[in-house]
Amino acid sequence: MVPPYHTRITLSLHHIPYLLLLFFVATTTGTDWIDYPSDGTATLTHYTLPKDYIASCGCTAASTHYPTAAMSQMAYGSFAAYGPGCGRCFKITLLNTYIPDPPFFPNVQKSVVIKVTDVCPAGGAGWCSATNGHPNRGGQYINFDLAWPSSSIPDDFFPSNASFYGFTDFGVWNVSYESVSCLQSWAGAKQRAALGSVNDGSSACCPADPTGSVNDTCPSFSDDNGIPPDTTTSNAIPSPAIPVSLGSLLLLLLGLCLSV
Ligand SMILES: *[C@@H]1O[C@H](CO)[C@@H](O)[C@H](O)[C@H]1NC(C)=O
Ligand SMILES: *[C@@H]1O[C@H](CO)[C@@H](O)[C@H](O)[C@H]1NC(C)=O
Ligand SMILES: *[C@@H]1O[C@H](CO)[C@@H](O)[C@H](O)[C@H]1NC(C)=O
Repeated sequence: MVPPYHTRITLSLHHIPYLLLLFFVATTTGTDWIDYPSDGTATLTHYTLPKDYIASCGCTAASTHYPTAAMSQMAYGSFAAYGPGCGRCFKITLLNTYIPDPPFFPNVQKSVVIKVTDVCPAGGAGWCSATNGHPNRGGQYINFDLAWPSSSIPDDFFPSNASFYGFTDFGVWNVSYESVSCLQSWAGAKQRAALGSVNDGSSACCPADPTGSVNDTCPSFSDDNGIPPDTTTSNAIPSPAIPVSLGSLLLLLLGLCLSV
């Protein structure tokens, strides 16, 4: 069974239309990144990120020992390399669910502070497909795709009411988010190995605490910013210095093959 909210897809022939769509988007709307406020509401899904896997931002393997998430592509800010979303931390609070009718409003308030270490590609079921002028299926401009299950987040993190709904995984949540300082709020901040920073030799583009300054924010592979500096390391997914459309297609194929 393939639940409707899964944002990660494995590569097979019927995904070719998505590839073509993304290829088209990548070559036409490279400057249309979403300029989101520092707090607001968003959708939250979850995906499987293997422990110690180095995701799109090139953050250290140890970052997976703490709460992380992928950010929807147009908010993440890149088609082919490290987006400016890389490394940012957000406090996410569960509000209510989207899919079931009636929606579920938990009577406990659950929050988690995540670090963005990955991109959630536009396409697929659409939760990560918001563009500047067009929200996602939930009417939101950002989707956080939480790496969960995770050794750092309790298995019962998501509230549920199995006796009423007959299942426990609601898939998509309406959440509030708040931009926070990683160093002050992220659980991994106390563990140096989990942090990484821009071109510090141990990670690719995973600022310890991005502030928005060009010096601690991952550059976007966009028409505006061009190809980012060579911050790759042996651990990181390389960012090929080839034309954007081909580069984005390759990265996409890589992402599709690697994310389950
Ligand atoms: C589950 O939902 C039912 C019906 O809305 C409600 O009566 C019950 O209190 C809920 N239980 C929990 C644990 O939320
Ligand atoms: C999400 O939560 C906000 C804040 O409570 C609320 O205003 C909005 O209607 C909710 N959206 C959905 C689709 O439930
Ligand atoms: C970024 O770093 C360079 C080199 O250290 C410095 O000259 C520049 O002023 C910095 N820019 C900002 C916005 O901090």
